[in-house]
Amino acid sequence: MEVSTVPSITLNDGNTIPQLGFGVFQIEPKDTAEAVEEALEISYRHIDTAEMYGNEKEVGEAIRASGLNRDEVFVTSKLSNAFHEPDDARKAFEATLSDLGFDCVDLFLIHWPLPTLYGGDFVSTWKTMEEFKADGQARSIGVSNFQIEHLERLASETETVPAVNQIEVHPYFTNEAVRSYGREHGIATEAWSPIAQGAVLDDPTITVIADRVGKTPAQVVLRWHIQRGDIVFPKSVTPSRMKENFELFDFELDSDDMDEISALDRGEDGRMGPHPDKFDMVPS
Ligand SMILES: NC(=O)c1ccc[n+]([C@@H]2O[C@H](COP(=O)([O-])OP(=O)(O)OC[C@H]3O[C@@H](n4cnc5c(N)ncnc54)[C@H](OP(=O)(O)O)[C@@H]3O)[C@@H](O)[C@H]2O)c1
Repeated sequence: MEVSTVPSITLNDGNTIPQLGFGVFQIEPKDTAEAVEEALEISYRHIDTAEMYGNEKEVGEAIRASGLNRDEVFVTSKLSNAFHEPDDARKAFEATLSDLGFDCVDLFLIHWPLPTLYGGDFVSTWKTMEEFKADGQARSIGVSNFQIEHLERLASETETVPAVNQIEVHPYFTNEAVRSYGREHGIATEAWSPIAQGAVLDDPTITVIADRVGKTPAQVVLRWHIQRGDIVFPKSVTPSRMKENFELFDFELDSDDMDEISALDRGEDGRMGPHPDKFDMVPS
Protein backbone atom coordinates (compact mmCIF):
# COMPACT_ATOMS: atom_id res chain seq x y z
CA MET A 1 0.00 0.00 0.00
CA GLU A 2 1.25 3.47 -0.85
CA VAL A 3 1.95 5.57 2.21
CA SER A 4 -0.06 8.81 2.32
CA THR A 5 2.05 11.91 1.90
CA VAL A 6 1.31 14.48 4.56
CA PRO A 7 1.68 18.08 3.28
CA SER A 8 3.79 20.56 5.22
CA ILE A 9 2.63 24.01 6.23
CA THR A 10 5.21 26.79 6.38
CA LEU A 11 4.84 28.87 9.53
CA ASN A 12 5.43 32.64 9.76
CA ASP A 13 8.95 32.05 11.17
CA GLY A 14 9.96 29.88 8.19
CA ASN A 15 9.74 26.54 10.02
CA THR A 16 7.51 23.81 8.61
CA ILE A 17 4.96 21.60 10.35
CA PRO A 18 3.26 18.43 9.05
CA GLN A 19 -0.41 19.31 8.48
CA LEU A 20 -1.55 16.03 10.04
CA GLY A 21 -0.37 14.81 13.42
CA PHE A 22 -1.39 12.69 16.39
CA GLY A 23 -2.90 14.18 19.58
CA VAL A 24 -2.42 12.60 23.00
CA PHE A 25 -4.96 14.49 25.15
CA GLN A 26 -6.74 12.08 27.53
CA ILE A 27 -4.37 9.21 26.79
CA GLU A 28 -3.33 7.81 30.16
CA PRO A 29 0.43 8.03 30.75
CA LYS A 30 0.58 4.21 30.99
CA ASP A 31 -0.94 3.90 27.50
CA THR A 32 0.85 6.81 25.84
CA ALA A 33 4.15 5.24 24.79
CA GLU A 34 2.37 2.35 23.08
CA ALA A 35 -0.07 4.69 21.28
CA VAL A 36 2.69 7.02 20.09
CA GLU A 37 4.87 4.11 18.95
CA GLU A 38 1.92 2.79 16.95
CA ALA A 39 1.30 6.25 15.46
CA LEU A 40 4.95 6.56 14.41
CA GLU A 41 4.79 3.07 12.90
CA ILE A 42 1.78 4.20 10.82
CA SER A 43 3.97 7.16 9.69
CA TYR A 44 2.60 10.03 11.78
CA ARG A 45 5.52 12.45 12.23
CA HIS A 46 3.88 15.12 14.40
CA ILE A 47 2.82 14.62 18.02
CA ASP A 48 0.76 17.13 20.02
CA THR A 49 1.14 16.90 23.81
CA ALA A 50 1.01 19.34 26.75
CA GLU A 51 2.28 19.69 30.30
CA MET A 52 -1.31 19.38 31.51
CA TYR A 53 -1.78 16.03 29.72
CA GLY A 54 0.81 14.48 32.07
CA ASN A 55 2.30 12.29 29.33
CA GLU A 56 5.29 14.22 27.92
CA LYS A 57 7.73 11.69 29.38
CA GLU A 58 6.03 8.82 27.58
CA VAL A 59 5.92 10.78 24.30
CA GLY A 60 9.70 11.24 24.51
CA GLU A 61 10.21 7.55 25.35
CA ALA A 62 8.15 6.44 22.36
CA ILE A 63 10.07 8.67 19.96
CA ARG A 64 13.38 7.32 21.23
CA ALA A 65 12.09 3.73 21.04
CA SER A 66 10.99 4.24 17.41
CA GLY A 67 14.58 4.57 16.23
CA LEU A 68 13.65 7.71 14.29
CA ASN A 69 15.96 10.69 14.53
CA ARG A 70 14.72 13.47 16.77
CA ASP A 71 14.47 15.83 13.80
CA GLU A 72 12.14 13.47 11.92
CA VAL A 73 9.29 14.00 14.39
CA PHE A 74 7.65 17.38 15.00
CA VAL A 75 6.77 17.69 18.70
CA THR A 76 4.51 20.32 20.26
CA SER A 77 3.97 20.88 23.97
CA LYS A 78 2.12 23.57 25.92
CA LEU A 79 2.63 25.61 29.05
CA SER A 80 0.48 24.54 31.99
CA ASN A 81 -2.16 26.98 33.27
CA ALA A 82 -0.37 26.85 36.62
CA PHE A 83 2.78 28.51 35.30
CA HIS A 84 2.00 31.81 33.57
CA GLU A 85 4.27 33.89 35.80
CA PRO A 86 7.58 34.34 33.91
CA ASP A 87 9.81 32.55 36.45
CA ASP A 88 7.34 29.69 36.74
CA ALA A 89 7.09 29.47 32.95
CA ARG A 90 10.88 29.20 32.64
CA LYS A 91 10.98 26.35 35.17
CA ALA A 92 8.02 24.62 33.58
CA PHE A 93 9.61 24.80 30.14
CA GLU A 94 12.83 23.27 31.51
CA ALA A 95 10.70 20.48 33.00
CA THR A 96 9.02 19.90 29.63
CA LEU A 97 12.42 19.51 27.92
CA SER A 98 13.66 17.26 30.70
CA ASP A 99 10.50 15.10 30.67
CA LEU A 100 10.59 14.74 26.90
CA GLY A 101 14.35 14.15 27.10
CA PHE A 102 14.94 16.66 24.28
CA ASP A 103 17.21 19.70 23.78
CA CYS A 104 14.36 21.56 22.11
CA VAL A 105 10.71 21.31 21.15
CA ASP A 106 9.50 22.14 17.66
CA LEU A 107 6.59 24.20 18.95
CA PHE A 108 5.68 25.45 22.42
CA LEU A 109 2.29 27.06 23.11
CA ILE A 110 0.59 29.02 25.86
CA HIS A 111 -2.21 26.50 26.47
CA TRP A 112 -4.94 28.98 27.53
CA PRO A 113 -4.96 32.79 27.75
CA LEU A 114 -6.56 32.83 31.25
CA PRO A 115 -7.68 36.47 30.98
CA THR A 116 -9.36 36.29 34.41
CA LEU A 117 -6.18 35.09 36.17
CA TYR A 118 -2.69 36.55 36.68
CA GLY A 119 -4.19 40.05 36.32
CA GLY A 120 -4.99 39.14 32.70
CA ASP A 121 -1.27 39.45 31.95
CA PHE A 122 -0.67 36.81 29.29
CA VAL A 123 1.56 39.42 27.60
CA SER A 124 4.38 38.80 30.13
CA THR A 125 3.91 35.10 29.58
CA TRP A 126 4.27 35.62 25.82
CA LYS A 127 7.43 37.71 26.32
CA THR A 128 8.87 34.76 28.27
CA MET A 129 7.96 32.46 25.39
CA GLU A 130 9.94 34.82 23.12
CA GLU A 131 13.02 34.02 25.25
CA PHE A 132 12.54 30.29 24.59
CA LYS A 133 12.47 30.97 20.86
CA ALA A 134 15.46 33.33 21.03
CA ASP A 135 17.64 30.74 22.78
CA GLY A 136 16.61 28.02 20.33
CA GLN A 137 14.95 25.70 22.85
CA ALA A 138 11.57 26.25 21.19
CA ARG A 139 12.00 26.31 17.41
CA SER A 140 8.59 27.96 17.07
CA ILE A 141 6.24 29.51 19.61
CA GLY A 142 2.50 29.95 19.49
CA VAL A 143 -0.70 30.17 21.48
CA SER A 144 -3.80 28.12 22.04
CA ASN A 145 -7.36 29.17 22.70
CA PHE A 146 -6.58 32.83 22.04
CA GLN A 147 -9.51 34.99 20.96
CA ILE A 148 -9.10 37.92 18.57
CA GLU A 149 -8.77 40.46 21.38
CA HIS A 150 -6.00 38.39 22.98
CA LEU A 151 -4.12 38.20 19.67
CA GLU A 152 -4.55 41.95 19.18
CA ARG A 153 -2.93 42.60 22.55
CA LEU A 154 0.08 40.48 21.59
CA ALA A 155 0.28 42.36 18.27
CA SER A 156 0.33 45.77 19.94
CA GLU A 157 2.49 44.94 22.98
CA THR A 158 5.08 42.39 21.76
CA GLU A 159 7.48 41.74 18.88
CA THR A 160 6.53 38.22 17.81
CA VAL A 161 3.41 37.12 15.97
CA PRO A 162 2.45 33.63 17.22
CA ALA A 163 3.28 30.95 14.63
CA VAL A 164 0.03 29.13 15.39
CA ASN A 165 -3.20 29.48 17.34
CA GLN A 166 -4.56 26.08 18.40
CA ILE A 167 -8.34 26.43 18.80
CA GLU A 168 -11.48 24.32 18.89
CA VAL A 169 -12.68 23.78 15.30
CA HIS A 170 -15.00 21.13 13.87
CA PRO A 171 -18.12 21.13 11.68
CA TYR A 172 -20.42 22.11 14.58
CA PHE A 173 -18.08 24.95 15.63
CA THR A 174 -16.19 26.36 12.67
CA ASN A 175 -14.77 29.25 14.71
CA GLU A 176 -14.61 31.34 11.54
CA ALA A 177 -13.81 34.76 13.00
CA VAL A 178 -10.72 33.57 14.88
CA ARG A 179 -9.58 31.52 11.86
CA SER A 180 -9.93 34.57 9.57
CA TYR A 181 -7.96 36.76 11.95
CA GLY A 182 -5.21 34.13 11.83
CA ARG A 183 -5.30 33.95 8.04
CA GLU A 184 -5.02 37.74 7.76
CA HIS A 185 -2.13 37.95 10.22
CA GLY A 186 -0.01 34.95 9.22
CA ILE A 187 -1.02 32.79 12.19
CA ALA A 188 -1.66 29.15 11.21
CA THR A 189 -4.79 27.61 12.69
CA GLU A 190 -4.52 24.26 14.45
CA ALA A 191 -7.97 22.67 14.87
CA TRP A 192 -8.41 20.83 18.17
CA SER A 193 -11.09 18.18 18.67
CA PRO A 194 -11.27 18.01 14.85
CA ILE A 195 -13.97 15.31 14.88
CA ALA A 196 -15.63 16.85 17.96
CA GLN A 197 -14.54 13.77 19.93
CA GLY A 198 -16.81 11.71 17.67
CA ALA A 199 -19.94 13.87 18.04
CA VAL A 200 -20.11 14.84 14.34
CA LEU A 201 -19.60 11.35 12.92
CA ASP A 202 -23.28 10.32 12.86
CA ASP A 203 -24.46 13.55 11.29
CA PRO A 204 -26.47 12.64 8.14
CA THR A 205 -24.74 15.34 6.07
CA ILE A 206 -21.40 13.69 6.87
CA THR A 207 -22.54 10.09 6.48
CA VAL A 208 -24.17 10.76 3.09
CA ILE A 209 -20.96 12.35 1.77
CA ALA A 210 -18.89 9.51 3.28
CA ASP A 211 -21.03 6.88 1.53
CA ARG A 212 -20.79 8.71 -1.77
CA VAL A 213 -16.99 9.17 -1.73
CA GLY A 214 -16.38 5.72 -0.24
CA LYS A 215 -14.63 6.98 2.90
CA THR A 216 -15.51 6.92 6.60
CA PRO A 217 -17.19 9.88 8.34
CA ALA A 218 -13.97 10.60 10.28
CA GLN A 219 -11.96 10.68 7.04
CA VAL A 220 -14.46 13.07 5.45
CA VAL A 221 -14.36 15.46 8.41
CA LEU A 222 -10.56 15.36 8.66
CA ARG A 223 -10.28 15.90 4.90
CA TRP A 224 -12.58 18.95 5.24
CA HIS A 225 -10.08 20.42 7.75
CA ILE A 226 -7.12 19.63 5.47
CA GLN A 227 -8.77 21.32 2.47
CA ARG A 228 -9.51 24.39 4.63
CA GLY A 229 -5.77 24.57 5.27
CA ASP A 230 -5.85 23.93 9.02
CA ILE A 231 -3.47 21.65 10.93
CA VAL A 232 -5.10 18.65 12.66
CA PHE A 233 -4.01 15.93 15.09
CA PRO A 234 -6.89 13.55 15.83
CA LYS A 235 -6.51 11.42 18.95
CA SER A 236 -7.18 7.69 19.08
CA VAL A 237 -5.93 4.78 21.10
CA THR A 238 -7.42 2.37 18.55
CA PRO A 239 -4.85 1.29 15.93
CA SER A 240 -7.45 0.77 13.16
CA ARG A 241 -8.75 4.34 13.71
CA MET A 242 -5.22 5.72 13.85
CA LYS A 243 -4.63 4.19 10.39
CA GLU A 244 -8.01 5.41 9.12
CA ASN A 245 -7.29 8.96 10.30
CA PHE A 246 -3.97 8.93 8.44
CA GLU A 247 -5.49 7.99 5.07
CA LEU A 248 -6.68 11.40 3.92
CA PHE A 249 -4.62 12.11 0.85
CA ASP A 250 -6.06 9.85 -1.82
CA PHE A 251 -9.41 11.63 -2.26
CA GLU A 252 -10.87 15.12 -2.45
CA LEU A 253 -14.13 16.76 -1.42
CA ASP A 254 -15.74 19.00 -4.00
CA SER A 255 -16.80 22.54 -3.20
CA ASP A 256 -20.44 21.52 -2.60
CA ASP A 257 -19.33 18.92 -0.03
CA MET A 258 -17.07 21.48 1.62
CA ASP A 259 -19.89 24.05 1.80
CA GLU A 260 -22.40 21.53 3.15
CA ILE A 261 -20.04 20.51 5.95
CA SER A 262 -19.22 24.14 6.80
CA ALA A 263 -22.98 24.88 6.94
CA LEU A 264 -23.30 22.49 9.92
CA ASP A 265 -21.81 25.27 12.08
CA ARG A 266 -23.97 25.96 15.14
CA GLY A 267 -22.04 29.02 16.30
CA GLU A 268 -21.47 29.24 20.07
CA ASP A 269 -24.02 26.43 20.61
CA GLY A 270 -21.62 24.08 18.84
CA ARG A 271 -18.68 24.80 21.14
CA MET A 272 -17.86 21.68 23.16
CA GLY A 273 -14.90 22.84 25.24
CA PRO A 274 -14.67 25.75 27.67
CA HIS A 275 -14.93 29.36 26.51
CA PRO A 276 -11.44 30.91 26.45
CA ASP A 277 -12.69 34.20 27.95
CA LYS A 278 -13.89 32.37 31.07
CA PHE A 279 -11.76 29.26 31.41
CA ASP A 280 -9.74 29.46 34.66
CA MET A 281 -8.85 25.88 35.55
CA VAL A 282 -5.47 25.68 37.23
CA PRO A 283 -4.13 22.21 38.03
CA SER A 284 -3.14 21.80 41.68
N1 LIG B 1 -5.30 23.16 23.07
C1 LIG B 1 -6.36 22.66 23.65
O1 LIG B 1 -6.95 23.27 24.55
C2 LIG B 1 -6.85 21.31 23.22
C3 LIG B 1 -8.09 20.85 23.67
C4 LIG B 1 -8.53 19.58 23.24
C5 LIG B 1 -7.72 18.85 22.37
N2 LIG B 1 -6.50 19.32 21.98
C6 LIG B 1 -5.60 18.55 21.06
O2 LIG B 1 -6.38 18.06 19.95
C7 LIG B 1 -6.25 16.64 19.89
C8 LIG B 1 -7.51 16.02 19.32
O3 LIG B 1 -8.66 16.43 20.05
P1 LIG B 1 -9.51 15.47 21.00
O4 LIG B 1 -8.64 14.40 21.52
O5 LIG B 1 -10.21 16.33 22.00
O6 LIG B 1 -10.66 14.92 20.06
P2 LIG B 1 -10.82 14.27 18.62
O7 LIG B 1 -9.50 13.96 18.02
O8 LIG B 1 -11.78 15.13 17.87
O9 LIG B 1 -11.60 12.90 18.97
C9 LIG B 1 -11.04 11.88 19.74
C10 LIG B 1 -12.12 10.85 20.05
O10 LIG B 1 -12.67 10.32 18.83
C11 LIG B 1 -12.47 8.92 18.78
N3 LIG B 1 -12.02 8.64 17.40
C12 LIG B 1 -10.81 8.93 16.86
N4 LIG B 1 -10.76 8.55 15.58
C13 LIG B 1 -11.95 8.00 15.29
C14 LIG B 1 -12.50 7.40 14.13
N5 LIG B 1 -11.78 7.30 13.01
N6 LIG B 1 -13.77 6.93 14.18
C15 LIG B 1 -14.50 7.03 15.31
N7 LIG B 1 -14.04 7.58 16.46
C16 LIG B 1 -12.77 8.05 16.44
C17 LIG B 1 -11.42 8.59 19.81
O11 LIG B 1 -11.68 7.32 20.38
P3 LIG B 1 -10.53 6.21 20.75
O12 LIG B 1 -9.35 6.92 21.28
O13 LIG B 1 -11.23 5.37 21.77
O14 LIG B 1 -10.25 5.46 19.47
C18 LIG B 1 -11.65 9.67 20.85
O15 LIG B 1 -12.70 9.33 21.71
C19 LIG B 1 -5.97 16.27 21.36
O16 LIG B 1 -5.47 14.95 21.50
C20 LIG B 1 -4.99 17.34 21.74
O17 LIG B 1 -3.72 17.05 21.19
C21 LIG B 1 -6.06 20.55 22.39
